[in-house]
Amino acid sequence: MTNGNAAGTEGHLFVILGATGDLVGRKLLPSLNELIARDALGPNSLILGVGVETEFNDESFRARCCKDLANAGVPQEQIAKTVSDKRIIYQTIAKGTPEDYKKLAARVEQVEKENGLPGNRVFYLALPPKVFPLAIAGLGNAGLNKSKGWTRLVIEKPFGRDLASAQALNQVAHEHFEEKQIYRIDHYLGKETVQNLLVFRFANSLFEPQWNRDRIESVEITVAECLGVEHRAAYYEGAGALRDMIQNHLTQLLTLTAMEVPSAFQAEPIRHEKVKVLHSVLPIKSENVVLGQYSTGKIDGQEVAAYRDEPGVAKDSQTETFVAMRLEIENWRWHGVPFFLRTGKRLEQRMSQIVVNFRRPPVWIFKPFDGKPIDANALVIAIQPDEGFDLYFEIKAPGQGVQIERSDLHFRYSEKFKPLPDAYETLLLDVIHGDPTLFVSDSWVEASWQLYTPVLENKPKVLPYAAGSWGPAAADALLSDLGRTWTKIL
Ligand code: BG6
Repeated sequence: MTNGNAAGTEGHLFVILGATGDLVGRKLLPSLNELIARDALGPNSLILGVGVETEFNDESFRARCCKDLANAGVPQEQIAKTVSDKRIIYQTIAKGTPEDYKKLAARVEQVEKENGLPGNRVFYLALPPKVFPLAIAGLGNAGLNKSKGWTRLVIEKPFGRDLASAQALNQVAHEHFEEKQIYRIDHYLGKETVQNLLVFRFANSLFEPQWNRDRIESVEITVAECLGVEHRAAYYEGAGALRDMIQNHLTQLLTLTAMEVPSAFQAEPIRHEKVKVLHSVLPIKSENVVLGQYSTGKIDGQEVAAYRDEPGVAKDSQTETFVAMRLEIENWRWHGVPFFLRTGKRLEQRMSQIVVNFRRPPVWIFKPFDGKPIDANALVIAIQPDEGFDLYFEIKAPGQGVQIERSDLHFRYSEKFKPLPDAYETLLLDVIHGDPTLFVSDSWVEASWQLYTPVLENKPKVLPYAAGSWGPAAADALLSDLGRTWTKIL
């Protein structure tokens, strides 16, 4: 949420642990490169890649970064700038012993001295989650948790795999770092459309009086993907859609949609209101959860493999690639308003949206026509792609008699603005500027796991669905008492 210029960045060292991993090549480096290219990091910043590989030196690591950036589609002229400025260097952490972390600490100090850096440091854990605790302790024990400038620790999701492991991870993190130094990344919070949720709700007086159980019948939150598991089976088999998407991304959307107005647009008041929503969600009944796993089918006319035939997936895997669920938020604003969450891989269309279904008029004074059901007003917030929103309402179609038709008011970012920045660019810049508003707090993580851990412990049967469909039919039944199905793009 920073203003995107270089002011306030007095110079820093950006240390990436796990620098040769997939996420770094795909997301982190392109975003850092873009920020450097538009001078958003200030003239005095360096990237120190840290990896277990011992064969790299600064030069060969830079060559590797060039390759990663080219693979990520970064134009050659821009890569040259980052690399020829020698802003990227490398340090091995070998086996990750305390000795290795001491060597890292010595290198950090040496680099800072040589480059006149003020001791501002980011440590970004782009590591497999099981090594988070070791890395955090390694940094802390080597004295890398403090410096003469500021020190910030960035942790990628997943933060734990259930309540107990999330608490344990928070505990290790707090043994070595203060909560205010810790930036837990959920990249959905960096998306412009997600940031816009609070502006949409709280900068417009039009919507807020309607935003409650008197006016809203239900809310649907969908994050649908066409992609399958790709090359990530080693991680995904042990995670599944509930851990991978629901506990974090969709629940972030839920809390931003349902929260009360914060006392100020600042990290603490916003975080406080988000956590309050989670504390008000009723325990989730297993009959309100539908899990699915994709079988073969067609995506864009192309036959695709079943999840169980993807490389690295067990032939009898019970991992869910689809989740739909119904939640109830038991507070004054939302009592009796169901919230539906749905996510899946290999679905018909890539589409993430929040649909706010308003109540129908209490009395319908117009004659029923053609047996057509009465439409309710709806607000569809398109998170991605084709970012924007549509507000649907009824109009009289011109002509004799009263024929009622649906129409909409709409807004699209692409019609008004340049292409939206990548979420990682926003979030990385916020880390450097020290703005934690778009990051996940310890209490949010634990409250979210508290909600979903019982579901994970008592998982319903995983139902098959054809790739290219909208998931198991049972997902529709969750909405049936409302006489509606999931909203498609209208
Ligand atoms: C990641 C999940 O956090 O989010 C992936 O691990 C998922 O499984 C991805 O594909 C979706 O992100 P986006 O930004 O493409 O919607």
